[in-house]
Amino acid sequence: MDDRVIIFDTTLRDGEQSPGASLNVHEKVEIARQLEKLNVDVIEAGFPVSSPAQFEAVKRISGEVSVTVAALARAKELDIKTAAEAIKDANKKRIHTFSSSSDFHIMGKFGDPRYGKTLEEKRRTIIKMSVDAVQYARTFCDDVEFSMEDAGRTDISYLSELIEATIEAGATTINIPDTTGYTMPSEYGSIIRQIRERVKNIDKAIISVHCHNDLGLAVANSLAALEAGARQVECTINGIGERAGNASMEEVVMALNVRKDLVKYHTNINTEEIYNASKMVSGFTGIIVQPNKAIVGENAFAHESGIHQDGMLKNRNTYEIMTPEQVGVPRTKIVLGRHSGRHGLKARLEALGYNLSEAELDKIYSMFTDLADKKKEVYDDDLRSLMGDEITKEPDVHNLTEWQVLVGSKLIPTASVRVTSNDDMKEISATGDGPIDAVFNAIDGALKSDFNIESYHVRSVTSGRQALGEVTVRIRNGGKSYSGRGVSTDIIEASAKAYLQAINHQEKAKKEKK
Ligand code: KIV
Ligand code: ZN
Repeated sequence: MDDRVIIFDTTLRDGEQSPGASLNVHEKVEIARQLEKLNVDVIEAGFPVSSPAQFEAVKRISGEVSVTVAALARAKELDIKTAAEAIKDANKKRIHTFSSSSDFHIMGKFGDPRYGKTLEEKRRTIIKMSVDAVQYARTFCDDVEFSMEDAGRTDISYLSELIEATIEAGATTINIPDTTGYTMPSEYGSIIRQIRERVKNIDKAIISVHCHNDLGLAVANSLAALEAGARQVECTINGIGERAGNASMEEVVMALNVRKDLVKYHTNINTEEIYNASKMVSGFTGIIVQPNKAIVGENAFAHESGIHQDGMLKNRNTYEIMTPEQVGVPRTKIVLGRHSGRHGLKARLEALGYNLSEAELDKIYSMFTDLADKKKEVYDDDLRSLMGDEITKEPDVHNLTEWQVLVGSKLIPTASVRVTSNDDMKEISATGDGPIDAVFNAIDGALKSDFNIESYHVRSVTSGRQALGEVTVRIRNGGKSYSGRGVSTDIIEASAKAYLQAINHQEKAKKEKK
């Protein structure tokens, strides 16, 4: 068996399904380019039939990168045709179609009697639909992946039958998702082993795994599956994805890399691009990486106790199983200042993974000089924050043009805002429990909105008193979450920008649905 593991990155599809994460087309293209630098084998760029914005993003990415671009499609003609259309310009293309396999999914999603009256009848219908879908997908491209949702909780005989039928129909990759993150590593490994034993034509397809992290086992399950013979891992940067997320790419890749002494399979990932990818995804999605996250967390290479520091000074191997450089974490901080010119800024941004047009460079250069005036030393994380804040932004419906807040120990916090929405301009004042609440209330007054704030986070982008403050706000409306991010040396301004951006994301999603 080939010892190379195919890395199928689904940051832009499953990852984007993380609550509150929403990426615009520009951000998706930037991430796709960074994934290409990482040397992933397949980029799952989206679910084209789900919205015009998804279609557009998959289409744009297909024209930008030369690695395989996959598009997701349910086992339905319209989905498959739309996916094929979105990836038609890709250098290498894959259609990824899926259906359900567990009894829970069949009885829930295929409960309607038109799929059959009994479980057995419904199972037959699903096999037929899946075979038809794979055959139809093969009329558009030779690379077709078939996934059976909730395979982790599926009866092994039925699962094997479904796999055999879809390979016979032309599927070249068979994906066995642990959709609910339910299985244990030994159990999941055993499912893969049994599939290899039971399915007669299994040698005609690559076995892929797609693990969710509900029990914190997504990476362990993916590794167990490789041990059992799978050769494609579906994963995301920073492990983002539905609910508790997917297997984290950096953890899977570095486990294989660091423990080459123990495991014989390897990936083609350029590990030195991992840190840039992690920062970019976190910046664009607004999903913060926990400090103790393996490989990419801020503390992943920090040695705090005296004993550890002493050991490190004597020999780095004492407490370090990989070097920060291996995953692209810079050992020394590069600092730019107000005297750094456009060229210096452009070169630094390119080193961080961003490709800028001249117009974008003009915009970020002006923001950079403003920031350098305020805080003198501008770090990589400041630049990443600016990139995520304004540069990739699409034109917004509502814009905050001015704001003012009055606070004091004996004053009721009062905010005034000027918000422009297309040609309309509103100036409203409101009070609140604190200055941020007052600004949110004033924005609500201007837009006649009243959103439930699901989460609010503020963090300092770098250390020091003049550091940029980055605020992430998640609002909830109509059963869906929308997040916004704002950056400023003033956290009230950053909060107002973040809240308004979350509202703009919500407006955009509403428009796309129409
Ligand atoms: O988790 C899952 O089952 C999925 C499939 C669409 C592959 O994301
Ligand atoms: Zn998934």
